[in-house]
Amino acid sequence: MTQAFSIILAAGKGTRMKSDLPKVLHRLAGAPMLAHVLRAAAAAGIGRAGIVVGPGMEAVGEAGLAVDPKAQVFVQPEQLGTADAVKAAAPAFEGAKGPVLVLYGDTPLLRAETLKAVLGELEAGADLVVIGFEASDPTGYGRLLFDDKGRLAGIREEKDASAAERALTLCNSGIMAFRSAETLSGLLARIGNDNANGEYYLTDAVALARADDLQARVVLSNAEEVLGVNSRAELAVAEEFMQRRLRAAAMAHGATLLAPETVFFSYDTVIGRDVTIEPNVIVGPGVRIADGVTIRGFCHIEQASIGEGATVGPFARLRPGAALAKDAHVGNFVEIKNAEVAEGAKVNHLTYIGDASIGAKANIGAGTVTCNYDGFAKHRTEIGAGAFIGSNTSLVAPVKIGDGAYIGSGSVITKDVPDDALAVARAPQDERAGWAAKVRARRARAKSK
Ligand code: UD1
Ligand code: CA
Repeated sequence: MTQAFSIILAAGKGTRMKSDLPKVLHRLAGAPMLAHVLRAAAAAGIGRAGIVVGPGMEAVGEAGLAVDPKAQVFVQPEQLGTADAVKAAAPAFEGAKGPVLVLYGDTPLLRAETLKAVLGELEAGADLVVIGFEASDPTGYGRLLFDDKGRLAGIREEKDASAAERALTLCNSGIMAFRSAETLSGLLARIGNDNANGEYYLTDAVALARADDLQARVVLSNAEEVLGVNSRAELAVAEEFMQRRLRAAAMAHGATLLAPETVFFSYDTVIGRDVTIEPNVIVGPGVRIADGVTIRGFCHIEQASIGEGATVGPFARLRPGAALAKDAHVGNFVEIKNAEVAEGAKVNHLTYIGDASIGAKANIGAGTVTCNYDGFAKHRTEIGAGAFIGSNTSLVAPVKIGDGAYIGSGSVITKDVPDDALAVARAPQDERAGWAAKVRARRARAKSK
């Protein structure tokens, strides 16, 4: 970690999201946008973060602290502009050594590599660095202005720009970095609000820096990476970009995705080599997929781990706490929650396993249900190694099935079953020889009358 400091601006209300949730808490690939920004900063080696929030946005601070417990949260009482927002965080960086980067909480696709390039420019002698991008439609963005020697000379906000300036397409992403806290403080002190919006623009720092003969430089990024999310439509675009990255990373790691565009990962998905994922699979947060796993179509998986060589689905649901060991099989229409499925065990059809453990090589028949909830509390079911649970069995928890035990199909098991025993708990079969033939004959006679 360097001495660098990041300040993440997140005081905006995000009105265009039409949401009760502050904008930066809307999720991308399972994590709030703010969390992505904090992670990118940490991955670039920026060790300290300050988050600027608006009044009443405690939840934003909490979400930030959940990712980086050392982060400091500052409240900007009124949204007077980006320079004013940075000032709100001044107590954090004043007197600090090392560079200060200003990031936006609603720009979640920014990569650590780009931040490293910015730090590199500062190390190479720049006093101020702006991340710029070529916009296909520059409307609404600040335009980068250069002097006749091609040096960055200023940033003009859209509302203050002349027609000629508006025609420029090289834009400010909003992300800026300063050589030191001292450089930043010196510039901030002189930023006024004499502009079309009456706001304190951080972007004015560039022209002020040039007037002081400081070096201002641009690091270019692609437009995708600095996409700002202001609406649900932009959130969907950002999600698509994020998913493309996650899919590409999974494939680069040695996973086969039959239809990548239909598979959704989370920011923290861990995925091994020689994994095959069929179409229409959703992987929520907290999932580990080991080498050689096959996930067939239409599965939904979250907070679960899948051991080497295991197969899952099609149409399986792994809920929080599902832990499949090596070579476990979980088949169609099976739901598993808070349960361990040991090596080589099979749960292949139409089954609910919740709050349970299944021993190695056990076989769970179709339609088995662990009755884990009595309306008040949850109870555990333990199934021993090599046990065989006949189809359509209800295991009324708390209950324990011994190693190698055998449960007759259709049983409702309410008592523990010892190792290697047979348990059958269903009404005995009642048989009446010739009954059906007699009834048929009687009915036929009645009809013919
Ligand atoms: C800003 C830049 C513009 C750039 C664009 C990129 C300025 C003056 N302009 O414009 O050059 O092209 O971003 O998207 O910086 N915020 C606060 N407190 C405030 C004001 C803003 O925390 O008082 C936060 C917002 O929550 C947001 C970010 O700062 O995360 C940017 O603010 P916004 O008002 O959206 O700036 P733009 O007008 O888009
Ligand atoms: Ca904006």
